[in-house]
Amino acid sequence: MQEKYCCPWEHLFYEPVLLDSASGDADSGDTVEYYQSALKSGEHRILDIGCGTGRLAIPLAQCNYEVHAVDCSPEMISFFQDKLKSFSQEGHSSLQDNLHLSSLDIVTSSYGKKVDVAIAVDDFLTHFLDKSSLRSALKNIALSLKLGGRFMTDLRGRSQERLAKASQAGAKPMLFFGIVHQVSTPSGNRSVAMRSAEDYDPHRQIMTSNQIFEWIAPDGTVERTVYRTLRQRLYHQEELEKIALDVGLRLVSVYKRLHPMQPASFTSGMSLEFCTV
Ligand SMILES: C[S@@+](CC[C@H](N)C(=O)[O-])C[C@H]1O[C@@H](n2cnc3c(N)ncnc32)[C@H](O)[C@@H]1O
Repeated sequence: MQEKYCCPWEHLFYEPVLLDSASGDADSGDTVEYYQSALKSGEHRILDIGCGTGRLAIPLAQCNYEVHAVDCSPEMISFFQDKLKSFSQEGHSSLQDNLHLSSLDIVTSSYGKKVDVAIAVDDFLTHFLDKSSLRSALKNIALSLKLGGRFMTDLRGRSQERLAKASQAGAKPMLFFGIVHQVSTPSGNRSVAMRSAEDYDPHRQIMTSNQIFEWIAPDGTVERTVYRTLRQRLYHQEELEKIALDVGLRLVSVYKRLHPMQPASFTSGMSLEFCTV
């Protein structure tokens, strides 16, 4: 068994093959459906920020939106490009016409073209561990929008019980996220098991997720174990609202995450929509 230890993550935590098959939920029907149905008529040019492997960008481009997908990770961009190549080999040429993929760190730069709507899926804003980088990211998002443009994003919920356990001193309970089969790797398809133990610092609002991925071969042997540390800052609605307003984005709606019309709370997670002012 090989082991690989990584430094605490800032930008390059996510491994494309794992993200694509085993983490997050951007490709679940719910997420794609939520964002698709939230788009209004006349909104055509969409910016997918932190697009990862294209799990939202691809279905939107397939629905004929002009999708501009950006990510700061070269590994994600390259994985996404390979995915697009395999789509074009299968004859999906409209996808190539509708999708514009590029590298961009939203903390340091805005997008070169103005868009109708910017979307950042799956807890994206928690990536900014301090308020000044969050502020820069929101400012660059605002600068990428045309006048009257909208920014939609979502935050995952964490129960008070989960946060209390993660805040305690000493050994933490291990959360098990199941096994995903048929993950494609250079040595063939593998199953991947994911476990995680969380530490939460309520004063700094930093959640540290210590994740262990085990790659299991068809004969049941564990081929590779990867240990990674993901740090996220769990923002409250009021904090986001205030920083966004400072940089020209007004919060116009908040719902339970991916459930339009249901009330939101910190524990249920939130879908948020901002508009340029
Ligand atoms: C949780 S993953 C989500 C990927 C994709 N949206 C999905 O849900 O499948 C977050 C993505 O944001 C990207 N990211 C993190 N910080 C970023 C930044 N400052 N600018 C652009 N992309 C960023 C990461 O590289 C990663 O691909």
